[in-house]
Amino acid sequence: MSDTTDKMSPWWKDEVVYQIYPRSFQDSNGDGIGDIPGITSRLDYLSDLGVTMLWLCPIFASPMVDNGYDISDYRAVAPEFGTLEDLDELIAEAKARGIKILLDLVLNHTSDQHEWFKRALADPTCTEHGYYIFKQASEPPTNWRTAFGGNVWEKVPGRDEFYFHSFAPQQPDLNWENPALREKLYEIIDWWLDRGVSGFRIDAITSIKKNQAWPILEPDGVDGLAKVSKAGSNQPGIEVFLTELKQRVFARRGCFTVAEAPGVPFDQLAQFAGYDGYFSCAFDFKAADIDIASGSEWFRRLPWTVADLRDLLARQQEALRGIGFTANFIENHDQPRATTKYLLEAADDPEAAKTLGAMYFLQRGIPFVYQGQELGMVNFERASIDEFDDVSSIDQYGRSMKEGRTAEEALRIVNLRSRDNTRTPFPWTGERYGGFSDHEPWLGMTEEFPKVNASAEQGDPESVLAFYKGLIAFARHGEHAACLTDGEIDFLQSSPNVIAYRRSSAGEVLDCYFNLRGEAAEEPLAEGTATEVVWHTQDAPEVVAGADGSAPVLRLRPYQSAIVRLTV
Ligand code: NOJ
Repeated sequence: MSDTTDKMSPWWKDEVVYQIYPRSFQDSNGDGIGDIPGITSRLDYLSDLGVTMLWLCPIFASPMVDNGYDISDYRAVAPEFGTLEDLDELIAEAKARGIKILLDLVLNHTSDQHEWFKRALADPTCTEHGYYIFKQASEPPTNWRTAFGGNVWEKVPGRDEFYFHSFAPQQPDLNWENPALREKLYEIIDWWLDRGVSGFRIDAITSIKKNQAWPILEPDGVDGLAKVSKAGSNQPGIEVFLTELKQRVFARRGCFTVAEAPGVPFDQLAQFAGYDGYFSCAFDFKAADIDIASGSEWFRRLPWTVADLRDLLARQQEALRGIGFTANFIENHDQPRATTKYLLEAADDPEAAKTLGAMYFLQRGIPFVYQGQELGMVNFERASIDEFDDVSSIDQYGRSMKEGRTAEEALRIVNLRSRDNTRTPFPWTGERYGGFSDHEPWLGMTEEFPKVNASAEQGDPESVLAFYKGLIAFARHGEHAACLTDGEIDFLQSSPNVIAYRRSSAGEVLDCYFNLRGEAAEEPLAEGTATEVVWHTQDAPEVVAGADGSAPVLRLRPYQSAIVRLTV
């Protein structure tokens, strides 16, 4: 690949990625836990939906303290998920349907049950001790707080030594300053590519470089600690590691990579994506976290408007103009359901879910769909903290109370943002345990699954599922697919509740409008052009003449989407 055209036309540019949380997708052996043969058995559903890549959250051997993001053997599959042979079969069966597999690469930390860490604890002089971050000390060397609460330093039993962890104590961070460790990781990545995977989602990659001065930070909570991200994330020098990682494996193998890149400012996003970037593309979280305050007031909900959301999306697109493709998502396994977050009281209105889906999906970039999003699933409110499984939700509950909230308020906060909202078992049918398993599932089914499930929606042409299927076909195989894949994007002025953008390519100009609230809206169309509504949700919207010969006006119903083609 040499000239600019090739740079902007990578092999993966028209993929549609579907994210699977293996524990909750389909159980095949009746233990209440989803597994790899279960995923294989549902490939026809995924192929029918039209997705072309599956991102599997970690399937590696793990004690599951953080549901697989604590890996004890990078080259083995967790027994509850199946075997390596099961994974080979999934890769082959997916390939037969034109679907590629992405694995979740956790390179910032391992499990404390990984052989390397067990050896490092047993013998401070062994090679593997240098794979982790240890400090000789009798007190924790810094006051940084892990992402899941508590100090980042954990005492080594029987020695005046501490080890570092950005997440749970059972997830010790790897020492990227050590070249020998980095080599070990590159070997693992090559091993998986040789096995037939097409690429990776890369976990917590902005955490691999820590401030080597190990400063004491200004506390930002009553625990006297400060967020680890302030000195353990996006630190100067990370570019050296990321460049090496790209050159040693990703660029050489030509695989697709999408990085989890929280906290990367808009003006640095271009370094993370595109032909010259470290990764194919990167998840930016500013729009996903629009509703929560960062820093010491993380538990405070922020008011936001549709215009704020539009602004964040526009800035993300602008950051990658002429550089590459964004990774477009509204949900994942760490976020609440997008319907509840962005649609508020209209969360369970299928028309609202459709317009939200079309709005993010039709932007320039690679669309990611998280399991259940295509059904219009909403948050699952739990009545007691005992119903949660997620390590981070349980920590946040305790911390909210220490910060002065009542138990009731703490539960409300956790319910709104808990990662368990999207981790509930996939509702295939309305029967007992939702067709997910014939055994009680590891995490309770959602309340609404008897109504909102794949089988019910498959039989309904007006369902959110039918809509997503049509949307994928329209965006990737319809008459306007070239423009919607390769075309530029420019956000347009619009009324406060509407997000509007123009997709344009050499042959075509498409103005796309999405009304995200419950009031009708009127959008003046471009002046001096002939227009035609080429796609819409609900009954066709009206286009009426503007007053005094001014531009025609598009009348959108509540929660309606429409695409207008301009003939210039
Ligand atoms: C980000 C993952 O998405 C999340 O689920 C996990 O807990 C942390 N990284 C730690 O690996």
